Amino acid sequence: MPTTLSPAIEPREFRNVLGHFPTGVCIVTAMEGGKPIGMVVGSFTSVSLDPPLVAFLADRSSTTFPRIREATTFCVNVLAADQEALCRSFATRGADRFADVEWRAAPSGAPILENVVAWIDCVPDAIHEAGDHYIHIGRVTDLAVENPTLPLLFFQGGYGAFTLGSLVMGANPAMAEHLAIADRARDEMTALAGRSDVEVLALGACTDTFIVVASASPSGSTAPLRIGTALPFAPPAGRIFVAWAGQESIHAWYERSAEPLTAAERERLDAEVDAVRRHGWTPAFYSDRMEDLWQTLGQIGKVGQTPMLVRHVSQLVASLERHSTPEDVDEKTAGTVQSLMAPIFGTDGQVALMLSLSGIPRGSSLSRIEELRDDLLAVCGRVTASLGGRVPPELADGR
Ligand SMILES: Cc1cc2nc3c(=O)[nH]c(=O)nc-3n(C[C@H](O)[C@H](O)[C@H](O)COP(=O)(O)O)c2cc1C
Repeated sequence: MPTTLSPAIEPREFRNVLGHFPTGVCIVTAMEGGKPIGMVVGSFTSVSLDPPLVAFLADRSSTTFPRIREATTFCVNVLAADQEALCRSFATRGADRFADVEWRAAPSGAPILENVVAWIDCVPDAIHEAGDHYIHIGRVTDLAVENPTLPLLFFQGGYGAFTLGSLVMGANPAMAEHLAIADRARDEMTALAGRSDVEVLALGACTDTFIVVASASPSGSTAPLRIGTALPFAPPAGRIFVAWAGQESIHAWYERSAEPLTAAERERLDAEVDAVRRHGWTPAFYSDRMEDLWQTLGQIGKVGQTPMLVRHVSQLVASLERHSTPEDVDEKTAGTVQSLMAPIFGTDGQVALMLSLSGIPRGSSLSRIEELRDDLLAVCGRVTASLGGRVPPELADGR
């Protein structure tokens, strides 16, 4: 009921301001005489943990809600970012909403739509009148995450997807530069991938992440990592990017560690960064965590940067074996070298881009690893020269 104490609120203004509050998008489904029915709601919310209650708000003018209300159960389907078309169809009056939709029955019998992020199966618990809407409360009888991918969001009258504050490529001037350099390195990368039969990745650093900006695969194979995949630029990952960047950058890198570093760990990392600086390249070895990291990054390539996967990546990077310097590659360990990384230098003598020979076959001999390393260093040297880049004096002699 309108109150005389508050000034009148224009419906347009109300819609506009509240449209600036983002919501997820769900389809509430139910069965009616053996046939599925459903409608889109942006007003779904969790209500109570004990007892487990959820709710959505239904417009009094909705023609579908009175039918859902009559059903003995209903199911809330959380839509994925790629289900905008499904959403539009379920928000259109008169459309045959289930015409091309695959679904199965939830334990309660209400429909679970194919590929939704999650579903929440309910029995009606209470209904409250609230202005021109009803608050429909359901008691949760079952629920599951179906497809842990990015959800569909509704904001300012438009659809979109969730992006994280970190680990996002975003608009970054440094990125444009990395891409330009990767473009110049492309022919060399392709030739190196062909000669070595190993994937070549180009990575650029952006404040707290480093990002795959280009890749070249041996013929016939497909790159496991998607261009744009970002890794946390935190210890022990990214030593090449800090090795020539000065003490301040090294400290900032330490500060980004997911776990605070002890003095002993800092000392060890210092020694490793030092080794990278002296040798001009660095290896990474196969390990269960490395496999997990690679798999998780591949998963991110498929479903996007969900907070769950990104958290997992951060934890994995923080727990990676720290000890992997050029001096650790010998007859015994050569067969477990997973990748070799080396820098391309810019005109300012800083690392402009890192090239990585990634996914070297297990069991490679030491001489094979040395051959790959020499080829990688030669490529980095030629690309650096083609950019007019300046190789730090301590490395210049060795190259
Ligand atoms: C993003 C989005 C969110 C919506 N949220 C709600 C909502 O929370 N409650 C509601 O009653 N209608 C909501 N609607 C509108 C209904 O989905 C739609 O207008 C309604 O289903 C029309 O058909 P009906 O008469 O069959 O209900 C929303 C529509 C869209 C596109």
